[in-house]
Amino acid sequence: MSDGPRGTIRLAALTRSYGRTTAVDGIDLEVRAGELITLVGPSGSGKSTILRLIAGLDRPDGGQVLVDGTDVAAVPPHRRAVAMVFQDYALFPHLTVLGNLTFGLRVRRVRRAEADRRARAAAERLGIGDLLERYPDQMSGGQRQRVALARALLRDPSVYLLDEPLASLDAQLRFATRADLLALHRELRTTTIHVTHDQHEAMTLGDRVVVLAAGRVRQVGPPQQVYDEPADTFVAGFLGSPPMNLVPGGGVLGGDEAMTLGVRPEDLTLDDAGPVTATVEAVEALGSEAILLTRCPDGTRLTVRTGPRPGVGPGDEVRLLADRLHRFDAATGRRR
Ligand SMILES: Nc1ncnc2c1ncn2[C@@H]1O[C@H](COP(=O)(O)OP(=O)(O)OP(=O)(O)O)[C@@H](O)[C@H]1O
Ligand SMILES: [Mg+2]
Repeated sequence: MSDGPRGTIRLAALTRSYGRTTAVDGIDLEVRAGELITLVGPSGSGKSTILRLIAGLDRPDGGQVLVDGTDVAAVPPHRRAVAMVFQDYALFPHLTVLGNLTFGLRVRRVRRAEADRRARAAAERLGIGDLLERYPDQMSGGQRQRVALARALLRDPSVYLLDEPLASLDAQLRFATRADLLALHRELRTTTIHVTHDQHEAMTLGDRVVVLAAGRVRQVGPPQQVYDEPADTFVAGFLGSPPMNLVPGGGVLGGDEAMTLGVRPEDLTLDDAGPVTATVEAVEALGSEAILLTRCPDGTRLTVRTGPRPGVGPGDEVRLLADRLHRFDAATGRRR
């Protein structure tokens, strides 16, 4: 290993194809030591493949993975200082939770009493302290997921690779575990790549977020920056829930043929003097807010985020004021 901070990762022109599917298509990415990166993208965009290539569980067709400045192509998975939490947990079915947690420690010749002590502490930390005698097939998906996380915590890697580690948790547990993960990251400062589908995770966890589509990086940046200035219409439509309204040619939002205009639902407000007229088709009351699905006379659909109890219903005509318009090139989709 070369000198410098521990836990830097550099992907250089990384490529991996399966038959005619190019899962990872020339990825360049630098992850700084101690950084937490969230990797987001639609299903099949190459997220798991990237983690597997970094972990050494799969080999690239082209390009390199450098850990701390060293090309790790010749380093087998068990010698790479990475701990991966798999999308499907990958627990040993014939071992109890305690057995799963202590296995790696015992392989590294940690004494049994010490291994048990550490395993119990990690299990307590993730709220599975009372499940130590269970086997994987005796637990829910969310419980298995926490065992897999606890097992990763028990290693002392340079890099954590987490593949949707919270996906099987219910909303409350996900919220709590997300907070735990953040606290843990602040304490350990171990470089982490965290794959997620979840908008909240992508926005709140990462120092930077990487948006992928079809094996390519579409944008990299701090979450708020990516949200405020999406690099193209794909990123604009992907990050944000409900997604940004995109109007080819500008239409009701003004503009011209050469542009696609975008406006986020929260940047559309009900205003009697607003220039855009639309009819409410549906109202989704979400408790803390409401989402109005509206349609303009030319057929354009606009989604509007309002406070709770917006005071309008299906069939009502409303006027809208649009703020913070995003401009994209109609031909390329790139931000202008
Ligand atoms: N072993 C394999 N053999 C053939 N095709 C594969 C293999 N692994 C992945 N792929 C393909 O490569 C592409 C990327 O897969 P990958 O698992 O990296 O996606 P992902 O972004 O993790 O998706 P998801 O969000 O559904 O987990 C997909 O089209 C997938 O079908
Ligand atoms: Mg995946």
